[in-house]
Amino acid sequence: MDLIIREVQAKDKAQWRQLWDGYNQFYQSDVSDEVTENTWQRMLSDTSSVFGRVAEVDGEVVGFALSVLHEGTWVTSPICYLEDLFVAESQRGKGIARQLIQALVDEGKEKGWSRLYWHTATGNPARKLYDQFTPVEDYVRYRMNL
Ligand SMILES: CC(C)(COP(=O)(O)OP(=O)(O)OC[C@H]1O[C@@H](n2cnc3c(N)ncnc32)[C@H](O)[C@@H]1OP(=O)(O)O)[C@@H](O)C(=O)NCCC(=O)NCCS
Repeated sequence: MDLIIREVQAKDKAQWRQLWDGYNQFYQSDVSDEVTENTWQRMLSDTSSVFGRVAEVDGEVVGFALSVLHEGTWVTSPICYLEDLFVAESQRGKGIARQLIQALVDEGKEKGWSRLYWHTATGNPARKLYDQFTPVEDYVRYRMNL
């Protein structure tokens, strides 16, 4: 398998959009076209803290990791929040998500980020993968939609 992990590029839009729709179906979420377009534009922007990496197999975009860099009060260097991770169903189980996460780990070490973190549902089977990167923390999340 010829796998490349790289920055998202403008030419990826149609393929990314298809994957994004699959991701939203997985979460049974209804992200509007307006928000989707805005997310896409922020990923391509040099000034936004949102950024995207894609997994390309034999020239086709088959997965993505979307992240946000933010500041923290306990550290002075950036913290990376991996917000969205998705691999096309037909390509799962080949280590692609592992490579997407590992690429963030490598980039963060190189650029001096202090931390990488992500959330998932307690029952998400992908935890088998996540547990191989780092032990789970004993925290729960509270979230209010405002
Ligand atoms: C989660 C997801 C990105 C994993 O992608 P992937 O490329 O198939 O994952 P990998 O092949 O890198 O997984 C590596 C390991 O984790 C296990 N694993 C990962 N996802 C798994 C899943 N959904 N079910 C069972 N095992 C899984 C693999 O079996 C493999 O274990 P092994 O190395 O012991 O064989 C993909 O299943 C997906 O897009 N799911 C729907 C969206 C989602 O859940 N996103 C994450 C939200 S936090």
